[in-house]
Amino acid sequence: MDIKVFETPLETARQVGNYLVKLISDNSQINIVLSGGTTPIMLFDFLAQDQKLFNEWHKVQFYWSDERCVPPDNRESNYKMALEHLLDKINVPSENIHRIHGEDDPVIEADKYGKLLKDHITQKNGWPVFDLVLLGMGDDGHTASIFPHQMQLLNASEICVVATHPISGQKRISLSGNVINNALHVVFLVTGENKKEKVAEVIKKTGNWKTYPAAFVNPLQGNLHWFLDKAAAGLLY
Ligand code: 6PG
Repeated sequence: MDIKVFETPLETARQVGNYLVKLISDNSQINIVLSGGTTPIMLFDFLAQDQKLFNEWHKVQFYWSDERCVPPDNRESNYKMALEHLLDKINVPSENIHRIHGEDDPVIEADKYGKLLKDHITQKNGWPVFDLVLLGMGDDGHTASIFPHQMQLLNASEICVVATHPISGQKRISLSGNVINNALHVVFLVTGENKKEKVAEVIKKTGNWKTYPAAFVNPLQGNLHWFLDKAAAGLLY
């Protein structure tokens, strides 16, 4: 596990951006999983203006860690956020963008997306092997759309699962923990004072860490990187 701490959220996002620029530049083809929420916005804005990647985007296949079960033009859609801050600003072929259809029946879409991953991504240990999975972490210790009340989704037998937001009850579609942990590189991008308790418990395996899904992200054969700002790392050292 590699932990990097930076002064500000923007600097942290930029550092993840630099990490991704190198990863994309070093590969002829790369399958990347984007996370949702708000933290990645600064990262996507940085990547969208990066000149080194201007002619590299054709190498990247974009997937998602999870999606809210809403239409793609809904303000809550993770796809919409990525489209506005990154995908609409770069010359990536549309066929390289593999969004989760949040507007469709969750059970059917979870199965369809799982089959799509099986068809498109090299398998190892019986699971797709992504080159990079980008994750965030909620202030309740969730990651992707695996929440503390549904820890069983970490070890689901499916590639993609239907999850539920614990407060709103909103249906989500999420990669299961086994897929996340089968990746070559997993990057957590976590910033903000409100995350510091969970960051410390998850990384140090203290307190109630066993109840936080993020604590069970541990790539079997891959590398785990935490990119934190000082606020989120406030209780780490
Ligand atoms: C989502 C994300 C989720 C997110 C965390 C952190 O769909 O919301 O995939 O796992 O990464 O909730 O969200 P923030 O970046 O908004 O704090």
